[in-house]
Amino acid sequence: MSGHAPWIPIGSSGRSTPGTVVTAGPILTATERDRVTTGLAHASTLPPRAYTDPEVWAHEATAIFRHDWMCVARVDQVPRPGDYVAVDLLDQPVIVIRGDDGSIRALSNVCLHRAMPLVSGAGSTRWIVCPYHRWSYARDGALHTAPLMDEAADFDIEQCRLPQLAVEEWQGFVFVSMGAQAAPLAPRLEPLAERLAPYGLANLVIADTIEFDSPWNWKLLVENFMEAYHHIGPHRDTFQVSNPATDSFVVDNEGGPWSLLYMPGATGPDEPHDGSLSDLPPLSGVDPDRRADLLAVCVYPTLLFAVTGTLATWYEVVVHSHDRLTLRIHLLLEPEVAADPGVAAALPTIREGLSWIHGEDIPVNEGPWRGLHAPLAAQGRLSPYEAAIWQFNQYWVARVDR
Ligand SMILES: [Fe+2]
Repeated sequence: MSGHAPWIPIGSSGRSTPGTVVTAGPILTATERDRVTTGLAHASTLPPRAYTDPEVWAHEATAIFRHDWMCVARVDQVPRPGDYVAVDLLDQPVIVIRGDDGSIRALSNVCLHRAMPLVSGAGSTRWIVCPYHRWSYARDGALHTAPLMDEAADFDIEQCRLPQLAVEEWQGFVFVSMGAQAAPLAPRLEPLAERLAPYGLANLVIADTIEFDSPWNWKLLVENFMEAYHHIGPHRDTFQVSNPATDSFVVDNEGGPWSLLYMPGATGPDEPHDGSLSDLPPLSGVDPDRRADLLAVCVYPTLLFAVTGTLATWYEVVVHSHDRLTLRIHLLLEPEVAADPGVAAALPTIREGLSWIHGEDIPVNEGPWRGLHAPLAAQGRLSPYEAAIWQFNQYWVARVDR
């Protein structure tokens, strides 16, 4: 961990648009809150306006997105010094870049001169150069050159440095935080890391990516990802066959910022759990008897990934506003598997399988998004199979409704 972001105001008052800061305060009625925070057996969902109201989103932006650890990249996206990927954390452009010292930093991707965003996309560079007036920065964010600034009085290049966000790596994922005092994440994820150890997530690399524009609230995607109850609905011909809803269970997270949904495989160890993905060799650390199991993980708020005996998928959630996100589904494989020409040739088929599954989920994101805007929509009762949604809601209430 390094750096902090003292320029980010937390807790001051203002109009509730995503770009401004609002006072945190109760946003649920006492009754609504009780329905969410009671035990799972009696619990209900968040109220509809928790999804649809821009004022609630302003609270989320402040209390969650500008405070908590947000996963923005994979370590394997920046393997060598100078490798970078530009990401947006809401309205803050960020460069995730590996420095000459080998460590990964997250720098404000905004020029100190006239606020021009510096780089976009991904690449590798010796210097971070602003395209506007050619100010250049070292890989650690220190200003290196500022052309034609010799006559600017009291301008000291040595004192100029791109603001830095805190960075933490966990299981190959890169988290950043704009909060000045975000507590280290890894100690709070230890029970989860133990359960994930056989999958060797830190070693996996991105082998393929599919992108979806998703015009609905981010929590709908998170909730859909974290319950297998709906396997009996949109996935009745796919996951319900391979990983039935009634076999699924959610691990007790003991109040930690994570959920783990286990979906045991219905088929024997020699049977593929999904025809489109069955040609891949097994992950080396996974018990062959457990190859068909599917595990879905959420590290709150938005890191979503799933693992099976052969692969992992990272659902990269880039939240833009209360009503829109970009979803990138990344296929993660062991490096030697990803480099195998046979696997490369199979990627279109694998991509088709991943797209098919998400295609089954799109209508059950779009539908509730429309339904939550209905005047007669209200909090709905949760199923015991939706324990991970209950867990997430406790986190959400603790963060946002205070
Ligand atoms: Fe689904």
